[in-house]
Amino acid sequence: MGKKQDSGTPGAIAPMGVSVIGLGKLGAPLVAVLASKGHRVTGVDLNPDAVRAMAEGRAPVDEPGLQDLLDRCKERVGATTDIAAAVADSDITLIIVPTPTGPDGRFINDHVLTAIRGIGEALKRKTGYHVVVVTSTVMPGSTGGVIAEALARHSGRIVGREVGLCYSPEFIALGSVIRDMLHPDMILIGESDPRAGGVLERLLASVVETRPQVRRMNLVNAELTKIAVNTYVTTKITYANMLGELCERLPGADADVVTGALGMDTRIGGKYLRAATGYGGPCFPRDNVAFATLARGLGARADLAEATDRMNSHQVLRLAEMLAREAAPGASVGVLGLSYKPDTEVCEASQGVMLAQALAAAGFRVVVYDPKAMPTARRVLAKTVEYASSAKDCARRVDAFAVTTAWPEFRDLESDDIGPGGAVAIDCWRVLDDERLAPYCRVIVPGRGDDHVARKPATRKRAAA
Ligand SMILES: NC(=O)c1ccc[n+]([C@@H]2O[C@H](COP(=O)([O-])OP(=O)(O)OC[C@H]3O[C@@H](n4cnc5c(N)ncnc54)[C@H](O)[C@@H]3O)[C@@H](O)[C@H]2O)c1
Repeated sequence: MGKKQDSGTPGAIAPMGVSVIGLGKLGAPLVAVLASKGHRVTGVDLNPDAVRAMAEGRAPVDEPGLQDLLDRCKERVGATTDIAAAVADSDITLIIVPTPTGPDGRFINDHVLTAIRGIGEALKRKTGYHVVVVTSTVMPGSTGGVIAEALARHSGRIVGREVGLCYSPEFIALGSVIRDMLHPDMILIGESDPRAGGVLERLLASVVETRPQVRRMNLVNAELTKIAVNTYVTTKITYANMLGELCERLPGADADVVTGALGMDTRIGGKYLRAATGYGGPCFPRDNVAFATLARGLGARADLAEATDRMNSHQVLRLAEMLAREAAPGASVGVLGLSYKPDTEVCEASQGVMLAQALAAAGFRVVVYDPKAMPTARRVLAKTVEYASSAKDCARRVDAFAVTTAWPEFRDLESDDIGPGGAVAIDCWRVLDDERLAPYCRVIVPGRGDDHVARKPATRKRAAA
């Protein structure tokens, strides 16, 4: 792998002209990361607001570190709605447009195919070799199938010889996209031919700041690896939650102690092994479902992925029941954390939003708060809940609340923030300081048997002042 690169100098290779189609949550950070390492990058989007922002050096999406990075490299960044111009002016084009999930659980390629048409038509008028890279998550078989066919048809070129085609996903989490792009565990490249994979490897190797393993393979293996990674991680998360539910029924048991030891086994590892909430977000749930759909469609069994999905849906209900045990019917309950993880405003398949929905449907008065995701959550929850102005405001207004996202600022809650009736808090991510919250708030941790089995009666009434 290439050496560690100095910012602004893609040391191992000459700067490349790169076009990136799709300036969303993943595409916009990728533009900045590539430009920060010296490449000349043109971003393309159908949305003129995103294009204008990028052209003016403003981050089109909210992602930590993105604006800082753009500030340092904006002279190498351009943006346009004209895909043909961007392709003509680049050697390699990366496609990062949405691939929404269809009703059957499969990813829909329509936006990718629209981009391919634009790229193909531009390549008809361009001379010289070009590489097209699909970064969007697609169903295994798509890139070498419908996408390759469309590229050949629209460009009039032979794929694998006159135009290279790759599939190469980014393994990132929202909130740490830039760090994850610069420090990946692995560079995964599916390639139509070695020349195409070589061009992409040189580009990606010039960007990373570590020495990740590179895995080059055919297109379908790379597509499958992407969703298999996420399906495996969802299984691991679900395993920890299964263990947590068991521990809650076993006096003396503590899932943190057990998972802490489990993670010491190098065959298992400690990441994503915590009894907390279910998983959410724009990738894990749908990648798992797509994996199961793919397997079933091929006549293979998908019991494990299906069970993971079912168990994950169960986590919201489990949490709602925990809260319901601590609050009288119709009481006020709170949900702290609506984004699917900290450092993002994204609420897609968020456990906090789904918990709020379940509690409202069960007749509770629900008060919610999130440091970043209030506007996005409002679009989903509308008038079914009440919106607090801060975590303290939320805690003050409820009898029981759950912390569903590990925002560090929730740790600042203290006993003075609890309403006069006292409260019970379910701290899914161990962010609360129970000593600061005592005596007016009792903190319950999922997966801890003694918090659940031998539960003391809730101290609802605040001691006389
Ligand atoms: N967000 C993540 O955490 C993440 C992680 C891994 C993979 N992915 C995958 O990456 C892809 C993109 O995800 P995202 O979160 O960046 O999406 P996004 O919705 O944030 O952004 C997509 C952008 O593409 C633009 N677009 C749509 N069609 C276009 C076209 N034909 N030409 C030009 N622009 C077009 C949209 O206007 C939008 O700005 C998806 O396949 C997703 O599954 C996302």
